[in-house]
Amino acid sequence: MAEKILVLDFGGQYNQLIARRVREQRVYAEIIRYDRITPGEIRAAGYRGIIFTGGPNSVYEEESPHYSPEILQLGIPVLGICYGCQLMAWMEEGEIRSAGEVSEYGKVLLHTENSGIFRGLKTDSICWMSHTDYISRTPESFRVIGTTEHCPCAAMADEKRRLYGVQFHPEVTHTELGKEIIRRFLYEICGCTGEWTMASFARTTVEKYRKELAGKKVLCALSGGVDSSVAAVLMHQAIGDDLICVFVDHGLLRKHEAENVEKTFRGHYKMNLICVDAKQRFLKALENVTEPERKRKIIGEEFIRVFEEEGRKIGKVHALVQGTIYPDVIESGLGDAATIKSHHNVGGLPDVIDFDEIIEPLRNLFKDEVRAVGEELGIPHEMVWRQPFPGPGLAVRILGGITEEKIRLTQDADAIFREEAAKAGLEKEISQYFAVLTDTRTVGVMGDARTYGYTVALRAVTTDDFMTADWARIPFEVLEKVSSRITNEVKNVSRVVYDITSKPPATVEWE
Ligand code: XMP
Repeated sequence: MAEKILVLDFGGQYNQLIARRVREQRVYAEIIRYDRITPGEIRAAGYRGIIFTGGPNSVYEEESPHYSPEILQLGIPVLGICYGCQLMAWMEEGEIRSAGEVSEYGKVLLHTENSGIFRGLKTDSICWMSHTDYISRTPESFRVIGTTEHCPCAAMADEKRRLYGVQFHPEVTHTELGKEIIRRFLYEICGCTGEWTMASFARTTVEKYRKELAGKKVLCALSGGVDSSVAAVLMHQAIGDDLICVFVDHGLLRKHEAENVEKTFRGHYKMNLICVDAKQRFLKALENVTEPERKRKIIGEEFIRVFEEEGRKIGKVHALVQGTIYPDVIESGLGDAATIKSHHNVGGLPDVIDFDEIIEPLRNLFKDEVRAVGEELGIPHEMVWRQPFPGPGLAVRILGGITEEKIRLTQDADAIFREEAAKAGLEKEISQYFAVLTDTRTVGVMGDARTYGYTVALRAVTTDDFMTADWARIPFEVLEKVSSRITNEVKNVSRVVYDITSKPPATVEWE
């Protein structure tokens, strides 16, 4: 990677967002914690520029992260954001004080000069602030280039050394000039040319693995989810039939999903794909199990067992492919234990399958970039834009015991809901939506006859991170259509209800 930017992580909450904003400008950015890289390593890595992220409230707090001022002498441009800006001032012996009563939070009017990094931009604009301290005296070599009512140094520059600091958050969309400031820093100050595109990523990744893995057997567990699908297609382009994909159909997928995996990967991409039909086996293991956590555990264990058996048949392989992505890899926030999920993702596989290496072709990509690569590689739209789907599948959407009939009912009701939501153009607005088969039967009437069927619950949420979620305000006409179709077309369902609970207090899934 010729052009890359270092996002030096001081623990602020917007670190990933900063890296994404840089990459949106077609420049590769990587996030590294401040205590995991030395100035010498930064110099050796050849970064075009460095961005200091936000961090704690004050550079004066006991635990506050500091960094050697040497970093400002490397000749590499730096953009300090929020805490990063104050840290820069602190390194250069400026003065930082508590803003007390006049700390700013939210949208604030910013006044900038019409020169340097702000040349040609409007001089009064809105910026997003969130700070309790402020720079009360700018370091000697810097000059103030932006102010707000309560911030005498909202932006500063040492143009000779190409050092810039902004107290506000340019990465947040509320900052009117944010995108332009980041763009100017990357292109005009750091001299980047914008070579990071998903097409170039796909090309170089394929070339790299084609060379590295020539003639070696590689195994990939394909789930049908976005990450493993994109990883598999990339690796297939690199090594063709030396890639063996294994897809386990536990029978708890959505309607037609297993067929689609076969159709896409074996039919369209002509991959070396082993589909294991384990439906009956999972049904048997789940017989009469009603407790949600036990269902999850049984499915997890059974899955590993199926994989073990396939692994034994395949024998030794050189490597395993995993769909780990960047948010799984970055350690964000200070003092947190490393949240590296890679080995968890493999589950129990390494114990039985003999391999030398784990390959993670997507480990530097954000989710939206993985999707863009998927589109680049021609993976079908519905796979690339697939909603999150829990590993235990429909088992946690069928309350109580699981039977073949209940799986079919759930799949049919869910397919109707998805079809109508897509027709109404709601797919991109709603983060996740699905049908749940409750364990409650209620009385209904059909023609002259009394019925006693299941109750289907529809669940639809909007969310950014799935940690909290709001129930989606789906138009009544769409709900009406879905309800009427489900009760008419799916036998044994006599009632449809809509879940209007947010998370918290409810979770997204019902089990
Ligand atoms: P909850 O129900 O916890 O769901 O609000 C949040 C997100 O996580 C998904 N989810 C799971 N994913 N295995 C998974 O791989 C699971 O056991 C599981 N449970 C919930 C859920 O679909 C939602 O996107």
